[in-house]
Amino acid sequence: MGSRFMKDFIAVTLNRGLVFSALCALALPALAATPTLSDQDLQQQAHRSLEFLLQNISPEGSARGAVVAAPSRAEPDYYYHWVRDAALTFDSLFTIYDDAAPDVRARLRPLFLDHLEFNRTLQANSSTEASYGEPKFLTDGSLFTGPWGRPQNDGPALRAASMIRLQSLALREGWPQANAIQRKVYDARTPSVGKTDLEYVAHRWRDWNFDLWEEVFGLHFYTLMAQRLALTQGAQIADALGDPGAADFYRQQLAPIEARLDTFWSASAGYVRATLYVESLLRGLPLASALTGPRFRLADFKSQLDASVLLAVLHADVPGRSFSFDDDRMLSTYLRLRDSFRSIYTVNGNHPELGTAFGRYPEDTYDGYRTDARGNPWVLTTAGAAEFLYRSILKFHENSRIVITAENVAFFTQVAGLSSAAVGQTIVRGDARFTAILGGLRHEADRLLLRVLFHKNSDGSLSEQINRENGFMQGAPNLTWSHASILTAKHYRDRVNQIVRTPRR
Ligand code: NOJ
Ligand code: NOJ
Repeated sequence: MGSRFMKDFIAVTLNRGLVFSALCALALPALAATPTLSDQDLQQQAHRSLEFLLQNISPEGSARGAVVAAPSRAEPDYYYHWVRDAALTFDSLFTIYDDAAPDVRARLRPLFLDHLEFNRTLQANSSTEASYGEPKFLTDGSLFTGPWGRPQNDGPALRAASMIRLQSLALREGWPQANAIQRKVYDARTPSVGKTDLEYVAHRWRDWNFDLWEEVFGLHFYTLMAQRLALTQGAQIADALGDPGAADFYRQQLAPIEARLDTFWSASAGYVRATLYVESLLRGLPLASALTGPRFRLADFKSQLDASVLLAVLHADVPGRSFSFDDDRMLSTYLRLRDSFRSIYTVNGNHPELGTAFGRYPEDTYDGYRTDARGNPWVLTTAGAAEFLYRSILKFHENSRIVITAENVAFFTQVAGLSSAAVGQTIVRGDARFTAILGGLRHEADRLLLRVLFHKNSDGSLSEQINRENGFMQGAPNLTWSHASILTAKHYRDRVNQIVRTPRR
């Protein structure tokens, strides 16, 4: 057991997720049979993922509304409430809420209220202003004070955005608690979770801090995207609730944040970089504080090719602004990431008919247990890559046109299967090539989800990682965020299904 062969054998024989198309095999005898993702298998996994995810909210012994990153208390110990993981978890629940069955919605509503209360507790327990950037808390809501990479400033931004989402949901549905929720989320005069986080974000987005992977001190694309989202929504809610001074102040931060975001694109490398240090230094950050910052190492100067760039747009897209799902720079980054991960993980070579398993970044040395090992593919980045493509499809559909440029031509030919295209051409909806591109992207995205289903445990449980050599689940078992990533990927795939028919290849 444990051999690559066994995993493949077991998966192929037992995993009903793979429906091999006999027709396709007949027509194209030279190619491996092309598996197609069945709606039913994905649906079943989403059901299981929701159940596993819900088990990690308010687990026995914790305060209500707390979310453990994973149920494991040792090797690795993920039994904490991470601000980022929790915000993303609740975001995934807000995303599926509208389409969920009435009984599921009824189950979710009290959790939303508990989570709002828990966030209030966290802020009350953050002993100084700086600790609003605390990355993780004990499950009773008290501050974790051990050594850690802190602050992590994506947390307050994601939390603010998710609480604003709750507030608008409550208003939209006319919940009896809507007014109380609103006051708790945003109030110009009394402490409120959203306002507190927004003030922190608005005043501190220029500060160096730790990245979402909790390893690197600097300025991060992911974090800035989350901050842009929070301040955009913050300005709207401040306007709506009679706090115009705050609204102006939040809005004033947006242009400089956007200008900073642009600096992460490297035209020569062809991707958006995850973290900038050298550039940040040159831009006048105090050298001393940069070099004495925690865990600053020369080794941190890596390629900066990182799946967190894709996650940034999944978690913090602002409609109509830069770095969205149709932005050439994002499309190009997708292609570079895919090609990099394809070449480094053995599992990707074994099943070329499945999509490429994505990791965090090529130089990763965290294997789910130790930080001095070899990194693996992750569930949440692979499902995240699929979600990125589904949402690109929706965006192109909405735009009704695709303009081929020097920056995106490789993406459209190598990912979407476009056979001939000239830079400068515009392909409009209705053109057969437009349909083929969307179908090609959907095919690639489906293969990414098939990859995840291929490596999942048979009971639908998902860990943090996929062993790069043998394909078994590895690292924190039932990572909450892994399950959340399935829920949102499926949600956007369902939307795509309404507009793109299954491609025949
Ligand atoms: C090291 C990992 O690289 C990092 O991402 C993780 O958050 C910490 N260990 C804690 O598990
Ligand atoms: C490690 C990941 O790198 C980080 O993003 C996450 O917050 C923690 N694990 C907890 O899941």
